[in-house]
Amino acid sequence: MITLALSKGRIYDEAGPLLAAAGLALTEDPEATRKLILATKRPDVRVIIVRASDVPTYVQYGAADLGVAGSDVLAEHGGQGLYQPLDLRIARCRMVVAVPEGFDYASAVKQGARLRVATKYIGTAREHFAAKGVHVDLIHLYGSMELAPLVGLADAIVDLVDTGNTLRANRLKVVEEIAPISSRLVVNPASMKLKRDELAPILEAFGKAIRG
Ligand code: ATP
Ligand code: PRP
Repeated sequence: MITLALSKGRIYDEAGPLLAAAGLALTEDPEATRKLILATKRPDVRVIIVRASDVPTYVQYGAADLGVAGSDVLAEHGGQGLYQPLDLRIARCRMVVAVPEGFDYASAVKQGARLRVATKYIGTAREHFAAKGVHVDLIHLYGSMELAPLVGLADAIVDLVDTGNTLRANRLKVVEEIAPISSRLVVNPASMKLKRDELAPILEAFGKAIRG
């Protein structure tokens, strides 16, 4: 049996058609059931539903043989113990630094000001500002990062931007681009060796589905 870890919502919305094209359509809608283990059209492949940020952990420990995870989540996790053979090119967005529209970020940085930065991506933010030599105090949040500068919790945020609607609605602007983001297929290295015959056609089918 092959186990694939997936998150509901955005990742499933975009990975669903890829799964179907790869012959792995789910037999039940994960948004309409409370079940966390779901069958696919292939009797030897099942899907487990986990939080987006937990996908790398399930695959790293071999509780899932493979999974779909955002490159933002993988960067934060560190990617230890994971093969990343395919960029699925779904759930694409950008990791950015954003500040209130009226805030002169360039001047603050030039003056060596110590900035308070709110983010869910502590490791990514730490690495980004260290490379730029910007002094920051990081504040760990789990969502709605855009709110933090509006209520005085932070000067800036590190978060994902797609359409820019959330930033605009909250009168924030992008001041630095950190990385483009997309979802990757991740595979447990032991599974790659021990279940090679079962996994190889699945990886191939995903590759074809992306190209298609
Ligand atoms: P968790 O449940 O673990 O807190 P989450 O709520 O961030 O995760 P989603 O919002 O479903 O989960 O996001 C899953 C992934 O989709 C992210 O890791 C990122 O790679 C991608 N993503 C997030 N926001 C966007 C967006 N606005 N546009 C496109 N892709 C996005
Ligand atoms: C993500 C991200 C931004 C928003 C960006 O949040 O954290 O807030 O999408 O997308 P946009 O540029 O198209 O507006 P999400 O919708 O996942 O909500 P969350 O706070 O629950 O993570």
